Amino acid sequence: MCGIIGYIGSKNAVPLVINGLRNLEYRGYDSAGIAAVVDGKLIVKKDVGKLDEVFSKVDISNLKSNVAIGHTRWATHGKVTKENAHPHTDCKGEIAIVHNGIIENYQELKKELESKGHIFRSETDSEVIAHLIEEGMKTKNFVDAFNEMIKKIVGSYAIVAINKDGKEMIGARKDSPLVVGISEDGYFIASDVPSFLDETKKVIYLYDGDVVVVNKKIVIYHDGKPVERDIDSIEWDAEQAKKGVFKHFMLKEISEQADVIKRAIMQDDKIINEIANEIKKSKGVFFVGCGTAYHACLEGSYIFSKVANMHVNVTYAHEFPNYVHFLTPESLVIAVSQSGETADTLEAIRAAKAKGAKVISIVNVAGSTLVRESDKVLLQHAGPEICVLSTKSYTSQLAVLTLLAYSLAGRLEEGKSKLKELIRYIYYLTSRNTRDYIRKLAEKLKDVKDIYIIGRDLQYPTALEAALKIKEVSYIHAEGFAGGELKHGNIALIEEGTPCIVFTSKENEKEIISNAAELKARGAYIIGVGPRNNEVFDFFIKVREAEEANSIVQIIPIQILAYQLAILRGLDPDKPRNLAKSVTVK
Ligand code: G6P
Repeated sequence: MCGIIGYIGSKNAVPLVINGLRNLEYRGYDSAGIAAVVDGKLIVKKDVGKLDEVFSKVDISNLKSNVAIGHTRWATHGKVTKENAHPHTDCKGEIAIVHNGIIENYQELKKELESKGHIFRSETDSEVIAHLIEEGMKTKNFVDAFNEMIKKIVGSYAIVAINKDGKEMIGARKDSPLVVGISEDGYFIASDVPSFLDETKKVIYLYDGDVVVVNKKIVIYHDGKPVERDIDSIEWDAEQAKKGVFKHFMLKEISEQADVIKRAIMQDDKIINEIANEIKKSKGVFFVGCGTAYHACLEGSYIFSKVANMHVNVTYAHEFPNYVHFLTPESLVIAVSQSGETADTLEAIRAAKAKGAKVISIVNVAGSTLVRESDKVLLQHAGPEICVLSTKSYTSQLAVLTLLAYSLAGRLEEGKSKLKELIRYIYYLTSRNTRDYIRKLAEKLKDVKDIYIIGRDLQYPTALEAALKIKEVSYIHAEGFAGGELKHGNIALIEEGTPCIVFTSKENEKEIISNAAELKARGAYIIGVGPRNNEVFDFFIKVREAEEANSIVQIIPIQILAYQLAILRGLDPDKPRNLAKSVTVK
């Protein structure tokens, strides 16, 4: 949902900011831009398109500066045009800002500013920020004018601003992520850590309501008073956030899944058991999440039921308000999120806390807002996930949920060894052999209009996740449903040759094969994914039986299929149209 970055220091800020934007592009990629101070003048270069397209169109060869800010956009207010791309400036072009979030009262502010003579050039909500600072600077310095602007805006924001003096860079956050990076030669303010990981691993996670002023030193204010914030050290290294030998992050991240499961198992038993105790103590557990994380929640509810004989409620985080009135101080909400910054998920846990309920999170990004706002946290340790689609974070969330279920059942060691047994097999599943085999299927499916996917029991959520992967990245319409639902309407969609993926397991083989036969009888082309081949399958992907961990192994070939469909259709799998990795707006 837009990536922002700024640098001030002794190095040339322009390549640092552009490199940072490259690492932030997963947050949005419909337009991009940069502002830098050169000889006391603010220079802004921006345009529509992905980062490389933008910086091949605009000339930045003469841009050298010790301070610069940059932005990569995912449009919310205003179409994808050059004027709407960030950075935005004031009337005189002396103040530049980049913004991620939504300024809810921008229309009133804009009217007021226009009545004072300000001229707006874009349709964005963000531009008011630059004009408000300009208005304040009629009587105040840059920092005071920035603070005054913050008091006037309502909504969510991560902002970085500079002015033509180039003496300082100012940042502020509320409900949108913003971190400070401290390198030997200067400071970064950015949406996310990977943007500056090449330069430093030392970071400060800003709190909501913080304003940070950076020049030769760094001062953080909260409610107008200077505050101290901890300096953390990042455990990821820059290499982990790079593609390495892989053509795309999606393939790299799919291929990392064996290691990711290994890291999930290395969790501290004490934390797992503590959280399992909290679950036991509570009266009513809710799993909440969005997108792929929601599918992990749904899958988790089956795993909890099967392994720990425990019922949990599952809901999309954005639908959670419908259930909030059931919460008491004895309720427990378990939020699942890769980024820990999804606005809907944050809103759900805040609503839960307001009711006195406990909040536990399963999160990948340490230092994220969700981590800070939860009572307890289980970190996934899956490493940076850059591709917009969640792949390794899904299987890692499933692994963590499986461990929790086993801990609840008092059999944590058994759960760990079950997952451990899968590691070597997952290496095989993500190997070139499997990829070559699935490519044959991708070639067959690359031009189809629809793909339907069925699964029963634990594999019903797998079917939903498989469909999401295919549609997100290949734009082929894909729909997952429970095998038992077929006859209640969905079977009407099946025509001669319609591809249908069928997830099977030892436990439900009889029922799901009979669903596959019903599809086949209507002309469907059946792709079986499971432990045993069957005559009803036209194409078979053998995946060994893993019981309640079936989803972890069975989703992998479909992630690979989705990737290959995108490649064969000439699409960029890391940056699907209209999507953003981290949806920090509601
Ligand atoms: C976005 C992404 C999805 C992701 C969802 C939840 O929609 O495109 O891939 O599953 O957000 O993200 P989270 O970071 O909360 O897991």
